[in-house]
Amino acid sequence: STSFSLAVIGGDGIGPEVVAEGLKVLDAVGVSAATTDYDLGARRWHATGETLPDSVIGELRVHDAILLGAIGDPSVPSGVLERGVLLPLRFALDHYVNLRPARLYSGVASPLAVERVAPNGIDFVVVREGTEGPYVGNGGAVRVGTPNEIATEVSVNTRFGVERVVRDAFARAQARPRKHLTLVHKHNVLVNAGHLWRRTVDEVGAEFPDVEIGYQHVDAATIFLATDPGRFDVIVTDNLFGDIITDIAAAIAGGIGLAASGNINPERSAPSMFEPVHGSAPDIAGQGKADPTATILSVAMLLDHLGLSEQSGRVEAAVAADLAERGTAARSTSAIGDAIAARV
Ligand code: IPM
Ligand code: MN
Repeated sequence: STSFSLAVIGGDGIGPEVVAEGLKVLDAVGVSAATTDYDLGARRWHATGETLPDSVIGELRVHDAILLGAIGDPSVPSGVLERGVLLPLRFALDHYVNLRPARLYSGVASPLAVERVAPNGIDFVVVREGTEGPYVGNGGAVRVGTPNEIATEVSVNTRFGVERVVRDAFARAQARPRKHLTLVHKHNVLVNAGHLWRRTVDEVGAEFPDVEIGYQHVDAATIFLATDPGRFDVIVTDNLFGDIITDIAAAIAGGIGLAASGNINPERSAPSMFEPVHGSAPDIAGQGKADPTATILSVAMLLDHLGLSEQSGRVEAAVAADLAERGTAARSTSAIGDAIAARV
């Protein structure tokens, strides 16, 4: 059997519940992971005032991969855990490729009239830039609370940062049957960043002559995601546009309970981190109601990243089989995990 070291961050709300099912499936597929739990999130912040100590980042670095449930809790002021835990992890570990597949599995209901708007199915992947854009926190506020308040959020886009994520997206497009890449941006308004992205796509595209290039403004992209999602193959976009369109992508592909993601460090200079796209859902935490499928599919992405493609394929096939027969009957978090684990 194969063995690797896995850092586990259950986090807040339903995070620990869904992560437990991900680990159950990892075990069932015969991969033995040496797991270490890291207590990050609301509990730690309340107890110690800490979000993400440097010492923890150092410990996380020596693992082969990280599995994360969810970070965020209503008992903590908005932004503290997001800006204090999740984003610093992505930045410190250089997760510049935030990979978010959107695939409508057979048997899964989409809110779209799929037979009409996507007769050939939905199967695309969003390559969301993960370390730049407005997420870097450059900005500020003056005269706060007065009628003259001014708040700015500055989107940072470097040639280095754009080029490396664009090249990764092209490589992914080239490896897929349709070989199509869509840049999503808003270069008619955000002319500085937009033109950098456009120029970079054109220039890097010369290295991938067999990949067809398309462009959509982000507002138009949301229309096509609802009316013609089958047109997309690989989408590359910045951090904030990627955040927004991957929620739409999840919704059309059967809901946020199924959406997996990988925060990838392609050079492997630090471990990549796999997490469901959904949040901590405090309203249903502790009730065994959360769907662990997104986490289990994130585990499949993790296995693939570690080169365990056979095991990854088995996990994904087990999920697909479960989804095909799932229907609408309510099942608990652990019942779904058990059913998928039994199929791997
Ligand atoms: C996501 C989340 C995060 C993001 C939040 C929690 C900071 O929405 O992973 O999509 O905006 O990236
Ligand atoms: Mn999001």
